[in-house]
Amino acid sequence: MCGIVAGVSQGNVVPFLLEGLKRLEYRGYDSCGVAVLQRGEARRVRTLSRVCSLEADALAADLDGVTGIAHTRWATHGTPVINNAHPIFSGEQIAVVHNGIIENHEQLREQLRLKGYEFQSQTDTEVIAHLIRDHYQGDILTAVRDAAGLLQGAYAIAVMCRDEPKRIVGARQGSPLVVGIGDDGAFLASDTTAIADCAERFVYLEDNDVVDIHGTDIAIQDREGRTVSRREVKSRGHAQDTGLGAYRHYMQKEIFEQPVAVARTLATMSGDESLQAAMPSPEELADVSNLVMLGCGTSYYAALTACSWFEHFANVTARAEIASEFRYRDYVSQGNTLVIAVSQSGETADTLAALRYVQSMGEARTLAICNVAASAMVRQSRWAFITEAGVEVGVASTKAFTTQLVALFALAIAIGRQRGSVSQSEAATWMRQLAALPDAMRNVLAREPEIMAWAEALHQTEHALFLGRGAHFPIALEGALKLKEISYIHAEGYPAGELKHGPLALVTESMPVIVTAPNDALLQKLKSNMEEVRSRGGRLFVLADSDTGLMAGPGMRVIHMPAWRGPLSPVLHAVALQLLAYHVACLRGTDIDKPRNLAKSVTVE
Ligand code: F6R
Repeated sequence: MCGIVAGVSQGNVVPFLLEGLKRLEYRGYDSCGVAVLQRGEARRVRTLSRVCSLEADALAADLDGVTGIAHTRWATHGTPVINNAHPIFSGEQIAVVHNGIIENHEQLREQLRLKGYEFQSQTDTEVIAHLIRDHYQGDILTAVRDAAGLLQGAYAIAVMCRDEPKRIVGARQGSPLVVGIGDDGAFLASDTTAIADCAERFVYLEDNDVVDIHGTDIAIQDREGRTVSRREVKSRGHAQDTGLGAYRHYMQKEIFEQPVAVARTLATMSGDESLQAAMPSPEELADVSNLVMLGCGTSYYAALTACSWFEHFANVTARAEIASEFRYRDYVSQGNTLVIAVSQSGETADTLAALRYVQSMGEARTLAICNVAASAMVRQSRWAFITEAGVEVGVASTKAFTTQLVALFALAIAIGRQRGSVSQSEAATWMRQLAALPDAMRNVLAREPEIMAWAEALHQTEHALFLGRGAHFPIALEGALKLKEISYIHAEGYPAGELKHGPLALVTESMPVIVTAPNDALLQKLKSNMEEVRSRGGRLFVLADSDTGLMAGPGMRVIHMPAWRGPLSPVLHAVALQLLAYHVACLRGTDIDKPRNLAKSVTVE
């Protein structure tokens, strides 16, 4: 998704802006640009290529100034062409970068046209730029505040004015924006990562805040112009290892980082009954009898997997909801409910909106399970559990998913303990099982050569079916999602028992069927489902726990996983399916870390 970096620095700001954009590249973009105030002019370069090309262009254009704004754009309004790339100018005077969507842009565009403004782009951002110019009477802060009052939708903006050097004004509503202060200057970004190296102190803006960076002075106001104070937080060691090392892709690196990420996440859980400082106390969990989990994409599948854990261990009713649908439904509270927002980024617009929606319906017990401590969802929730996956650069979620699963599993045990459905010794056993997970994951990763052989056999297919049952059905869904998003093969996940109710009609030799087969209570049923495929000429690719007794044969390949890990076995099968998707995509030569049309953090609806 789009990314913003802006700042007023002691020297030339351009290197800081470009470094920030490089750090935002992982979010996905189709154009980028940078503008500075230089010798009384606003100057910009923009490109449809990568940030490294922008860097070369900026050098060639001799771009140099202490005040600047920069952007990576992921097209929403208007195709990815140069005129639509940010920074967007209004005349020579106002320059704007913008994340989000302005819902009333058509109406505003019409009003501005009648006033004589001419539009050079198809973007909603140009409406903002002209609107600010229209309100400008010598003070850019007032102009931004007045213009922001007319905007509907979600946005974060950074604005500079040719006539006011050393000044950047930012505003946000619904999209994240953070101010960073350091020895090199004051900066503004949509993501802390972008400015982690040039700032030590951070201030996270709230909705309706307008920030004025004027030289080294920083002031925050609300829309009415009243000064507001926001808590300042010190850097939390953001400069994590984001290099590629010996790996070909970030996705591959992040798949292989999972044992460490899971171990780190487990290490933050002190003892077997409490999880982290910002978690509900055992007493606060004791009367929880309903769980509603909210998420999108892979995070939704983590929630769906966890439903069976919550039902089994904690004896509570648990439902996972797709946040983008849930937010528009009529919510009926069951009472004694804990709402859990599951998200890697903590910024996904739909999950955040769904969380706010349940809060508005009276649910006060909210918990965010997030990988980003300073994210909007963490701030919006009463409690938070921070997964320690580390920065996830690849667009496809991998280590974020498995650390979410681990956090949800531990929470199910903790609630079960409080409700008396899990004894102390059972809880201790399960925590030991969790502690053994990193080694078991390494064991799965060691099967990479066998998985690569499957990838060879699968990479030319255009369709694939993923089957699972019980807690492995969401893993089948996740396997299909991973495959489709990075290899562009059409893939569907199905509960194996549903095969006869429709999808069996699709099964032919050209429809490979990938099965996740744990040695659980549903194994015999699953075997029957596999026979249904085999007897129709289907090709089976089975990930089977080593104690299932499943063997390769005509029409059926088998990779033996470690022995069944009980309810934790979905975590291991997920790792194998990630590797499969990765190697298929490698053979198809796709842009694995930045799949077409996708973005890392989906901050618009
Ligand atoms: C798929 C993937 C997405 C995200 C989804 C939610 O690999 O990464 O489906 O899981 O966009 O994002 P977060 O977890 O940041 O809320």
